[in-house]
Amino acid sequence: MNIIYQKLQGEINQLKLNGNYRDFTQIDVVDFPQAKLPTSDKVVTIWSTTDYLGLGHNSMTKTSISKAVEQYGTGTVGSRNIGGSSSLHIKLEETMAEIHNKEAALLFSTGYGANDGTLSCLAQLIGDCVFISDEKNHASIINGLRQRAGCIKKIFKHNDLCHLEQILQTIDYETPKLIIFESVYSMDGSVAKIEEIIKLAKQYNALTYLDEVHAVGVYGAGGAGYANELGLDGQIDIIQGTFAKSYGVVGGYITGSRVLIDAVRSFCSNFIFTTSMPPMLVSIILANVNYLKSSNKERILLQQNVNNLRQNLLKHKLPLMLESASHILPIFVGEINRSKQIAAYLLNNYNIYVQAINYPSVEKGTERLRISITPLHSQDDINHLIYGLVDAFAKIGLNGSN
Ligand SMILES: Cc1ncc(COP(=O)(O)O)c(C=O)c1O
Repeated sequence: MNIIYQKLQGEINQLKLNGNYRDFTQIDVVDFPQAKLPTSDKVVTIWSTTDYLGLGHNSMTKTSISKAVEQYGTGTVGSRNIGGSSSLHIKLEETMAEIHNKEAALLFSTGYGANDGTLSCLAQLIGDCVFISDEKNHASIINGLRQRAGCIKKIFKHNDLCHLEQILQTIDYETPKLIIFESVYSMDGSVAKIEEIIKLAKQYNALTYLDEVHAVGVYGAGGAGYANELGLDGQIDIIQGTFAKSYGVVGGYITGSRVLIDAVRSFCSNFIFTTSMPPMLVSIILANVNYLKSSNKERILLQQNVNNLRQNLLKHKLPLMLESASHILPIFVGEINRSKQIAAYLLNNYNIYVQAINYPSVEKGTERLRISITPLHSQDDINHLIYGLVDAFAKIGLNGSN
């Protein structure tokens, strides 16, 4: 075997040895939140989704997609650098800027690319900038800050304002600084202390960068996000988001001041050297964004279901992680093999699909099941989930004892 393949095989073997090898369940959504396992034809209920409002499977989206294909075809004309911007791209950017109370916006193919591309571009452009990042920030943020030599990165403990302030105190007032954090952390369901972070940023002359990936659509007026819900979106300098979660499609964006957006548009490799989002997709995103601007129905139903499920989990003494203050409800397991066993037990015995979350997505020893409910889950679905979880924890147990 060639040395390269030997090295790759060695890495995979190591993952398997640690129990961290990732097996992806083959699963086809049929009638969301119901799905079919093609290997067994079994119908299961999905309890691990980021399509938080079920919009990706709603009949309005399905109708608009066939109309959009008819009107715009499926492809795009190239990168925006070469093929230009369609009026739909411009309209979506204007819409997202307005939603987040900002001067301008820029579209990316994914939310990952928006974080990674923007942060690495800023690191390149502002040479001596210090990036101060929450320790639980997403891989796309971590990667964006990793790519540049000379980029100074400091990590503050999750949601720890004292630690953040200690770090800020060590940096010269005039040195450019950016504080980077998320509004809703998708593995814990915790939420950021946005108001306090803004206060510190102002006091220490820093700008703020907020990832609202798990909050747009779900919180705020018309789905404008968690900072908007707190009335603070106007005070955040850069807001990043995705169309792949609550908006039910795919794609990402940043919003901010005109100069920031123009700089990223002009220098960001992830933006310049890639094919633009097909106008067909942009038209569906626009339809979904506008729909969620005017409809509260999905958000209200989601919150009712979240409260209902949260109370049931607590009532049945299931180990709901108490950090959760959002629609994401993680159940603590604390050991990699048990978290996989519980997920497999639920799938095999109860037709419940829930994802076990392991390292490196979370720290070792904090493995968990990541549960997210949607407006489309019924009371029967909730009862069935609780029944299955109670049985699984009794059989497999928190400590692996039967
Ligand atoms: C906090 C956070 N930011 C960014 C992303 C990337 O977004 P996308 O899935 O649109 O690439 C994710 C993906 O799950 C995420 O959890």
